[in-house]
Amino acid sequence: MARSILVTGGAGFIGSNFVLRTVATSDVHVVNLDKLTYAGNPHNLDSLRGSSRYAFVQGDIQDRELVRSLLRTYNVCAVVHFAAESHVDRSILGPEEFIRTNVGGTFALLEEAKSYWQSLAGEAKSGFRFLHVSTDEVYGSLGPKDPAFTESTAYAPNSPYAASKAASDHLVRAYHHTYGLHTLTSNCSNNYGPYQFPEKLIPLTILNALNGKAIPVYGDGKNVRDWLYVEDHCDAISTILAHGKPGETYNVGGSSEKANIEVVQTICELMDELVPQSASRPHQLLIKFVTDRPGHDRRYAVDASKLRRELGWQPRENFRGGIRKTIEWYLGHKEWLDSVVSGTYKDWIAAQYATR
Ligand code: NAD
Ligand code: DAU
Repeated sequence: MARSILVTGGAGFIGSNFVLRTVATSDVHVVNLDKLTYAGNPHNLDSLRGSSRYAFVQGDIQDRELVRSLLRTYNVCAVVHFAAESHVDRSILGPEEFIRTNVGGTFALLEEAKSYWQSLAGEAKSGFRFLHVSTDEVYGSLGPKDPAFTESTAYAPNSPYAASKAASDHLVRAYHHTYGLHTLTSNCSNNYGPYQFPEKLIPLTILNALNGKAIPVYGDGKNVRDWLYVEDHCDAISTILAHGKPGETYNVGGSSEKANIEVVQTICELMDELVPQSASRPHQLLIKFVTDRPGHDRRYAVDASKLRRELGWQPRENFRGGIRKTIEWYLGHKEWLDSVVSGTYKDWIAAQYATR
């Protein structure tokens, strides 16, 4: 049996991009374990149907028996762990699932990966990797003049989502320190690009602009995020997996800090250009400032110099080019948007925005 990587959460936004890219650009076999929550969409991977190098398994990362059997059946040489509850606003309304999946799920995976790894020998054992995909939100919030987050910035998570990711990062660290498991952790800034679920700022703005609906901007719109095109994140993950040093953490970011209002205005300008027949031009008129997110982190910025210096990674896309490609992708995939904007999506939008 050929060796495989086990990807968790590969039907979500970043996971789908990673799986598609990995199958297209390497000869690796990919097993995708995904529970298919509201955020998971197996159709993202329809182009891999019939591929002998791709297998999809619907299941929960907390199902230890299933994880145990997948690791052995597929002769797994690396786990790339994306599966998570990932939306900050949902963690504010209902944190429990975040603790279950992000903390309990990561713990279950680590336990099974450890037992499996301990059963290996020789190169299979020394080459085994557990790559944990995490976030810059674990570092908390920066002031306007603070230096960007480095790998040694103290953890100060502020939302239930960030706290659950921080807890999972600590578990990963402990499994390396205590048991010697060959872990790698990446802490990345905000991603954007194809297949992102339209609950997050950028796809929500594109969708609402397309439909002539209000574009909600929290607070004064001056919160800052460091945006990275999803392909660049996937490239960073492949680089860390291939060349990262076990036990290390790597920050990943686009050096592309933008205030939310600037992001939204850029999308509106591009929508004016790309959809000239729209009845909603100029799209900027759709922008509506709404009640702020509770505990809203003011600024994130990532110092990715360790990854650049030690492993030679750097982003290829700039923000303007990446956002244009992203809008073009959504305009060309209206059937994808229609399919994810189901009843449960409408319920979420109503619960989240009706009283703001
Ligand atoms: P997403 O919400 O789009 O996808 C998450 C995927 O995980 C979905 O396919 C979902 O079905 C699956 N999943 C959820 N719970 C599961 C469970 N218990 N068992 C198996 N599968 C489960 O998330 P995303 O934006 O693609 O983020 C992927 C990872 O990257 C997350 O760990 C997130 O914390 C991290 N991250 C995201 C960003 C970003 O900007 N989106 C930035 C940095 C890090
Ligand atoms: O920093 C990395 C993180 O980026 C990831 O770990 C998370 O999984 C990912 O969801 C993202 O978190 P954010 O909270 O930064 O992303 P979101 O798209 O929800 O919001 C981006 C900014 O836009 C944030 O300052 C809140 C604001 N916002 C968001 C929404 C959904 C609005 O102003 N209006 C909105 O309707």
